Amino acid sequence: MLKIRNTKLYERVEREFVLDMDSFHGINHWQRVYEYAILLAKHYKIDSKLFEYFALLHDSRRLDEAEDCNHGKRAGLFIKNLIRENLIDLCKADQNRLIYACVNHTKVKNSSSKYFQDLAVQICMDADKLDIQRVGIIRDEEYFSTSYAKYLVREKIFI
Ligand SMILES: [Fe+2]
Repeated sequence: MLKIRNTKLYERVEREFVLDMDSFHGINHWQRVYEYAILLAKHYKIDSKLFEYFALLHDSRRLDEAEDCNHGKRAGLFIKNLIRENLIDLCKADQNRLIYACVNHTKVKNSSSKYFQDLAVQICMDADKLDIQRVGIIRDEEYFSTSYAKYLVREKIFI
């Protein structure tokens, strides 16, 4: 379960989320993204609060359930405000990873950034894609960055 629930940050995200919390991009998806991220992170022996923040925030500024191609960018701006309000407890490097991962999670806009090759960022983005079948899209290995996520796709392993 997302540990971040029942915190000031979670309450803020839930209060401002304009879609139904039970929608395709709501709490159940956030929870699965978190669990997939932890599965990948354990494989790579990375322990970071980054994954929980990504799961909670990456779709938090969606305005609809369709493409909404600017929702990642809005999430990035939202996170910058949350950082200013001291609601994000991450070091500067992880704050930057979180912003990059959220802004770029549906379409990478800046592949020349050092964060494009960053394993923790790749785990965030792969964790989101591992849950894609909930909207009727078959997972395709080609769209994943980490070798372990590719393995989960190949072996049809679901949470
Ligand atoms: Fe998502």
